[in-house]
Amino acid sequence: MLPTSEYDRFADIYQVWTDTAASTQDNLAFYVDAYINETGPVVELGVGDGRIAVAAAARGRSVIGVDLSGAMLERCRLRAEDAGVLDRLTLINADFRSFHLEAPAALIALPYHSLGHLVTLDDKRRAIANVFSQLRPGGHFVFDDFLMTPMVMDHMRRVQLRAEYRSATGADTLLWVTSLVDEASQSLRVVTWEDELDTEGALARRRYRRLSLSWLDPSQARALLIDAGFAIESCYGDFARTPFSDATAHEQVWIARRPA
Ligand SMILES: C[S@@+](CC[C@H](N)C(=O)[O-])C[C@H]1O[C@@H](n2cnc3c(N)ncnc32)[C@H](O)[C@@H]1O
Repeated sequence: MLPTSEYDRFADIYQVWTDTAASTQDNLAFYVDAYINETGPVVELGVGDGRIAVAAAARGRSVIGVDLSGAMLERCRLRAEDAGVLDRLTLINADFRSFHLEAPAALIALPYHSLGHLVTLDDKRRAIANVFSQLRPGGHFVFDDFLMTPMVMDHMRRVQLRAEYRSATGADTLLWVTSLVDEASQSLRVVTWEDELDTEGALARRRYRRLSLSWLDPSQARALLIDAGFAIESCYGDFARTPFSDATAHEQVWIARRPA
């Protein structure tokens, strides 16, 4: 049986979340390019609402999307239907650690810090070993992770007004976010809340949601990839493919290959 997913309770605000996030435009272009430049089977782990997969499908690329959350997969299905590309998506409700493909993939991508949803090193190790087993020899694994610095931690700990929008029911809504960051365990708890306001601007309803995340240091990411048998082709410090350097990097973007 699959574990329950925190994203089942996050799915209805996911699009506002990504529309207002700092790195989503850059990571979208990076992953869409990677998918459409690959000729063999492409898999996106944690496909979510299809933000990336549907954009790639709209450019002619078939994508297999894997996700633990039934609610996120349903959003993905609807998005693909709206874009007229549902026939280019195969959606699988499964876990990163145990998904199984009918045929080995040429490219498996895990975008937008999503490996971080597995909060222990053991679970990350299991997921990476599973990715290795589901790739064809010579196939690529591409993923990104947070590059956590004291400045990023400070920023995450602040209460931030993330968006101002009309909810699905037409309510005037403010979306807020902050995070509990635990440096010692390299984990964080993202806490969001939406305030729905009445016509006077008074609080009519507040709803909280939480997500568990974690991060790897670059040295840990490298060790996990090597231990699983991957050859590391590149590590970039951003989605413009700038080679990783401590001084300039904002992200860690890894390109690993299952040796032929
Ligand atoms: C940050 S979202 C990324 C969605 C999409 N790739 C994007 O870039 O917008 C993370 C996604 O990973 C999924 N996810 C989290 N843990 C998972 C797991 N253990 N197995 C499969 N999917 C998981 C969530 O349900 C969610 O849809």
